[in-house]
Amino acid sequence: MNSQHLNMPARANQQTYDLFAPSALANSYPLFKRMREDDPVHYSESFGYWILTRYRDVEAALRDERLSSDRTALFLNQLGSLDVNLIQNFLHLISKMLVEKDPPDHTQLRKLANQGFTTRAVESWRSIIQNTTDQLLDNVQNHGCMNVVSDLSVPLPTLVLTKIFGVPETDRANFIEWAMDIGRFFGSPSSENIEEFALHADKAAAQFSALIRQLIEQRRRQPGTDMISMLTVAYSEQGFNLEELPSQCILILNAGLLTTTDLISNAVNALLHHPEQLQKLQQNPTLINCAVEEIIRFDTSVPFFFRIAKQDLTIGGKDIPKGSVIALGLGAANHDPAKFDSPDVFDITRSPNEHLGFGSGIHFCLGAVLARMELTICLTTLLRRLPNLRFDPDKQAIPTKHSTAIFKGFDSLPVKF
Ligand code: HEM
Repeated sequence: MNSQHLNMPARANQQTYDLFAPSALANSYPLFKRMREDDPVHYSESFGYWILTRYRDVEAALRDERLSSDRTALFLNQLGSLDVNLIQNFLHLISKMLVEKDPPDHTQLRKLANQGFTTRAVESWRSIIQNTTDQLLDNVQNHGCMNVVSDLSVPLPTLVLTKIFGVPETDRANFIEWAMDIGRFFGSPSSENIEEFALHADKAAAQFSALIRQLIEQRRRQPGTDMISMLTVAYSEQGFNLEELPSQCILILNAGLLTTTDLISNAVNALLHHPEQLQKLQQNPTLINCAVEEIIRFDTSVPFFFRIAKQDLTIGGKDIPKGSVIALGLGAANHDPAKFDSPDVFDITRSPNEHLGFGSGIHFCLGAVLARMELTICLTTLLRRLPNLRFDPDKQAIPTKHSTAIFKGFDSLPVKF
């Protein structure tokens, strides 16, 4: 998912709750527990944000109409003195993304975007995911070892999304590179070379939009079953401006790449750390759906999401002024003992499991069905084809040091089989 809406200044000053401490990067749940117990509605001076860590507060905030998803002002603030005229292509592209909208705009755009995720479309993705997973495992099957990140969790969602979008093979590398350039700038705009960074993102936005427009033209003449064809039909039928379609495409791409990459690595890590649960799943593969939900609860790839207070409000007895930025701790909420029995226990048979990994309410993850399908097929295939999967004892797993606390995953996860 695009991360701007969750942007936190990189490793700010030393603070009571250091989300970027090496111990927190390796395992953030003890820190979340401390925050939830000591100060569940915490104002972080150094970040300038409120942080919620209780399930009930996070769930209520996700559904609270007094909180806005429009984080554009936050993004623009981070640009400092940069001349925004330099990044008009970029600003135009991000301006219509539905994740940044409140009703009624959100309601309309979400209805359109749903047309890219129809049951028929979703079913057609199953074979794409299965074939892609098999091809990636074919590449490593005889090696006896692999890096889950570079060999599987990065290429799988990348290939799946380019195929779902029907991007011609010759354009795929550019398509992903431009999407990543746009996502990086949107996620973390401040940098020493902000002008260079911004111009790069603006060029990527222009090239990305041009390619989508070209694909729209093709699909209008020759509609297929890919996402661009379906969205083109939906926009045309509802009388919406097709010029706005690239915005939804960049959102869907950025929302679906890193989130899934990180989730696959978190899943393998959780299973290998709990051999008895891994064995249970291997002995009874029908537990996979339940296991996937538990993986998302236990170690989500999106531990935080942001909202802005549209008016003065009170949460958990704390007065929060209008305009405040509020970080909703989805990962912390998923480990709240008030909601989950033994929340730190990884139990692939846990039921019920009402985790907040995909959010809740009107912004509930549009790609949840795809994410679940990718994880289900990927893990089932992995465990069937590499039944002896284990950590590589000679190489270290490296958690990602994201510049924001929004995402959680791995840079490297070496395994043997
Ligand atoms: C794999 C793990 C994923 C996780 C953990 C995840 C998590 C989330 C969360 C927490 C939200 C709620 C945002 C909010 O409340 O404002 C969200 C929204 C969204 N997600 Fe995902 N997501 C994942 C995968 C995907 C995929 C694969 C796609 C698409 C290909 C996708 C597309 C979206 C979109 C478009 C939204 C915005 C929906 C809206 O604003 O109405 N996500 N996601």
